[in-house]
Amino acid sequence: MNSASLIISAATPAPPGRSWPLFAGLGPLGALPTASRLVRTFCALILASWGLGGFTDDCELIASEFAANVIRAAAGPDGHPRYDGHGRLPVLWVRLLSNRTQVRVEVWDNLAPERGVPSPRVAATYDESGRGLELVGQLSHDWGWERLPGQDAKCVWALLNGES
Ligand SMILES: Nc1ncnc2c1ncn2[C@@H]1O[C@H](COP(=O)(O)OP(=O)(O)OP(=O)(O)O)[C@@H](O)[C@H]1O
Ligand SMILES: [Mg+2]
Repeated sequence: MNSASLIISAATPAPPGRSWPLFAGLGPLGALPTASRLVRTFCALILASWGLGGFTDDCELIASEFAANVIRAAAGPDGHPRYDGHGRLPVLWVRLLSNRTQVRVEVWDNLAPERGVPSPRVAATYDESGRGLELVGQLSHDWGWERLPGQDAKCVWALLNGES
């Protein structure tokens, strides 16, 4: 079975502990720079349709940061798209869940494990990168990542509170 169809289907495991009556997913999208704008637009449209536009700025920023990380990890050392041995491009998915007081934003990818894992860095004053996940930590109530058991897929997520 293609992992893409499994991951973002209704059968995708919901995060434990909460009920999420609102759900929307986008993907699979090729892990290319052009995906970032789609990710942001998706967040804005879905949150507006749920009447939760107050979450839009933070959600867009976090989702596009997560997506940018996947896109970078998917690229080769020259920054160009890197295909696997079967000519396939890594892909990503976005999923938004809400109970109306919180929004959970998830970005999934099917990168091979050797492409790395989310790992916050301690950026020095003049470093031009390494702050994305730090910013996510400041904007969100909580964030983390996990692998989908049995698959080359992982989910990076952040939880937004109404007042965040
Ligand atoms: N989805 C991911 N898959 C693999 N590695 C990841 C993923 N997300 C983050 N990483 C790793 O975690 C590191 C830290 O990410 P972070 O977003 O904080 O910094 P950055 O992307 O390197 O720089 P910046 O976000 O400031 O442009 C990345 O350099 C990368 O090695
Ligand atoms: Mg980043």
